[in-house]
Amino acid sequence: MNILVIGGGGREHALAWKLKQSPRVDAVIVAPGNAGTAGECKVRNAEVAADDLDGLLKLAAEERIDLTVVGPEVPLVAGVVDRFRAVGRRIFGPSAQAAQLEGSKAFAKDFMQRHHIPTARYAVFTELNAAWEYVLQHGAPIVIKADGLAAGKGVVVALTLAEAQCALDKIFAVNSLGDSTVRVVIEEFLDGEEASYMVMSDGYHALPLASSQDHKRRDAGDKGPNTGGMGAYSPAPVITPEVEQRIMMEIIQPTLRAMADEGVPFIGVLYAGVMIDRQGQLKVIEFNVRLGDPEAQAVMLRLNTDLVDLVDAALDDQLQHVSVEWDRRPAVGVVLAAGGYPGKVTTGHVIDGLGGWGPVGKVFHAGTKRTAQACVATAGGRVLTVCALGSTIADARERAYAMTQKIHFEGMFYRHDIAYHALGYRQ
Ligand code: AMP
Ligand code: GLY
Repeated sequence: MNILVIGGGGREHALAWKLKQSPRVDAVIVAPGNAGTAGECKVRNAEVAADDLDGLLKLAAEERIDLTVVGPEVPLVAGVVDRFRAVGRRIFGPSAQAAQLEGSKAFAKDFMQRHHIPTARYAVFTELNAAWEYVLQHGAPIVIKADGLAAGKGVVVALTLAEAQCALDKIFAVNSLGDSTVRVVIEEFLDGEEASYMVMSDGYHALPLASSQDHKRRDAGDKGPNTGGMGAYSPAPVITPEVEQRIMMEIIQPTLRAMADEGVPFIGVLYAGVMIDRQGQLKVIEFNVRLGDPEAQAVMLRLNTDLVDLVDAALDDQLQHVSVEWDRRPAVGVVLAAGGYPGKVTTGHVIDGLGGWGPVGKVFHAGTKRTAQACVATAGGRVLTVCALGSTIADARERAYAMTQKIHFEGMFYRHDIAYHALGYRQ
C-alpha cells in the first residue's frame, strides 16, 4: 500500500520512518517532508504544503494513496480529514469540528467545563478593559492565552501584573487594527509537573501510547520563552501506573465519551497536556489533536508494533481488540534549534556530522532541506531531534548528547538538561 504523511517536521519524519517499516507498505510520500524524509528508503517527498488541501487531495489521487496520516494541527483544523472523507479517502485524524479541541482554547475550556473535566479556572474575553479587570481581581501569576493556533507560542505565563498587561496589550493591539474576532483566555496559574499523555482513538475506545514528557521552554531549568518543544523523553516517570489510570478515568475517557455524545466522535491522536500538582491533583492544561513534537520522536523510537496495523484498527473501530508493544528501553530526544528560535531565524546553513548512528540512535529531521550541492542545510527554527535509546533514561540521555557533539551548523543551540526531571525519579 501507499501512504501519505502530511507535514514536514520531526514528528512527520518519525511517523514516515515508523510507517515504512511495515511489510504492508510499498511507499510513503511526505508532503512536504524535509531532507530527513527524502533520505529514507521507501520514502519520498512531494512538494505540496501541509495546508494546501486542494494540492493534497490531488496528490493523493495521483499517487494512488491508500491511507493518509496527518501530522500537524493546521490541516486538521482546516478540515483536511473532512475533505478526504468526502471523496472516500482513508485518512487518520479528527474532523475539523473535533479538532476545535486544539483549534480554539475557548472551545476546549468551555467543553471541559461543560463536562466536568478538570482544568484551570478561566474566563474568556473579547475586550481589553474587561480582561484587565479580571487580571486585577485575580492577581499574578496568571496565564494569558490568545485564542487560536499559535504553534505553542501564544501563551504567556505572566509572573507579574506588568507582564500580564504587556501580553494583553499585544493581543488587543491586533484587535484595534480591525480584527474583531480576537479572543483571549485568562486562566489560573497551575504549579506542578507537566506531562504529555497521548492516546489513539477510534471515536469510542482509547489505546494509550507510551507516556512522554516535553520541555516547552527554550532555556535550561525550564526558563525563557515557550517554544514548540526543545526535547522529550519516554516514558515519563511522573506518570506512574496510578496516575496513568487516573488520567484515563478522569480525563481521556470522559473527553472521548463527551465528544461522541455531542455527535463529534474523536478519531485520531488525542494529546492531553496534564499538570500534576503536589497534592496529586490532575488538571488539563491543553488538548492537542495530534502527536506532540518532539514527543512523537521519542515515542516512535520505542514502538515495536506495526503502526499501520494500529492506524487501521483506529479507522475500523477495532482499537479495543489490539495491543501495543513498546521497547522497554527509555528514549530521549534533544532538539537542535537555529539561533534566534523561537523568534526569527536565519536559514540555509549547512549541517555537518549527520548520519551513521547504528540501532540505538536516530536523528529525525525537522527544518532541513537538501541543497543543490547535495548537502543538508537548515530551513527552520527546530532543525533536528537527536534521539537515542538506553538501558535507563540517564543512559539514553548520555547517548543522545554524545550524538549531538558530532553535529554542527551555524547558530545551533540546544538545551543541555533534557530529561532532568526524570533523573530524580528512581527507575
Ligand atoms: P498551552 O499552549 O496551553 O499548552 O500552553 C503552553 C505552555 O504554557 C504549557 O505547556 C505550560 O507550560 C504553560 N501553561 C499553560 N497554561 C498554564 C497554566 N494554567 N498554568 C501554568 N502554566 C501553564
Ligand atoms: N511538544 C508540544 C506539542 O507538540 O504541542
